[in-house]
Amino acid sequence: MGHDGWVGDVKHLYVHVPFCAHRCGYCDFVTVTGHGERHGAYVDALLVELAARGGVLADVVETVYVGGGTPSRLGAELLGRLVDALPVAADETTVECNPEDVDAALAEALARRGCRVSLGAQTFSAPLLGTLERRTTPLQVASAVALLRGAGVASLSLDLIYGIPGQREDDLQRDLARLGELAPDHISAYELEAKPGTRFAVHHGQRLAEQAELLERHFDVVIDTLEAAGFDWYEIASFARGSSHQGRHNRSYWLAEDYLGLGVGAVSTVGCERRTNGPRLAAYLADPAGASAQREEISPRLRQQERLLLGLRLAEGVPTAAVDGVLDRAGLARLVAIGIATVDDGTIRLARRGRMLLHDCVAELLADDAA
Ligand SMILES: C[S@@+](CC[C@H](N)C(=O)[O-])C[C@H]1O[C@@H](n2cnc3c(N)ncnc32)[C@H](O)[C@@H]1O
Ligand code: SF4
Repeated sequence: MGHDGWVGDVKHLYVHVPFCAHRCGYCDFVTVTGHGERHGAYVDALLVELAARGGVLADVVETVYVGGGTPSRLGAELLGRLVDALPVAADETTVECNPEDVDAALAEALARRGCRVSLGAQTFSAPLLGTLERRTTPLQVASAVALLRGAGVASLSLDLIYGIPGQREDDLQRDLARLGELAPDHISAYELEAKPGTRFAVHHGQRLAEQAELLERHFDVVIDTLEAAGFDWYEIASFARGSSHQGRHNRSYWLAEDYLGLGVGAVSTVGCERRTNGPRLAAYLADPAGASAQREEISPRLRQQERLLLGLRLAEGVPTAAVDGVLDRAGLARLVAIGIATVDDGTIRLARRGRMLLHDCVAELLADDAA
């Protein structure tokens, strides 16, 4: 039993590392800049929280994801110490890195531990990097990929952002071509979102809202280009070179499985409860397993709603049996009639246009709460 009173058999562990060299204009994740002197204390705090709450984990943990923020800010030694102290994952341990942090020692530390690495490229265009207020350069991305591959990292994912104000279709084609040259095993291609409260939303939010039609075209370009290059489009924003390179940890979110989250701002979902750690670094360091967390009850109905919303992101779709209690069958019939959804062997799948209009489709598929 965990410290929260949670009893569980949780197979997925997320560990949040909030440190960043610079705050990118579009990002609203829980991050802090500076605080280099607190990196060691933060890793210690994570391990205190793991000791307090890790009892909820299964004997065999399937996936571990060290995300951020920027885990690679910790450097080879500290990051290695952290990964060594976490449960050994049966399927995948992923570590998010920023290209400018990757040196030979970090690459070797990750490769030696068999880690999958997720690296943020975003775009290779200097003016568009400027719009994003992103400091990483394309040269740093290429150098990081070479170092990671040279050290023997066997599964490498690159992140791309598209729909950046000012981005033309040929800019996007160039980004996709450059990504292809770097030969990753996996690509996450995210449509840029104007997150409330970010500098990006203030400066470019209106422009982003005006380019909805362009975004649809960009969505098609991304899928067509990456499929033609041999990637499987297995989730709205995710492309893998063969199923062994799919992101297993993220897949657990799309399947609405339980997960334990450690670290400042981290979220956990176990059974009928969701717990969100407080966002303040100082409070977390003072009391890593403490009372700053918010708790929210997750009803079986809400879990099924989430199963539908998240599962329909996947090409494999959602079995109707998994969402029986929340499914509006008349709404489903309407989507099937207009070719946006299919139902085969008791599984609902969204066609490409349906996945582009995911939230509208899910609204159509969800039965009223009173039903
Ligand atoms: C929060 S970052 C953490 C990893 C690392 N620090 C980085 O910057 O690559 C994870 C990914 O989220 C995506 N992301 C963050 N904010 C976004 C936004 N507003 N719209 C779309 N994607 C976003 C980026 O592609 C980024 O690579
Ligand atoms: S995008 Fe990555 S590097 Fe930039 S602020 Fe967010 S977490 Fe930090």
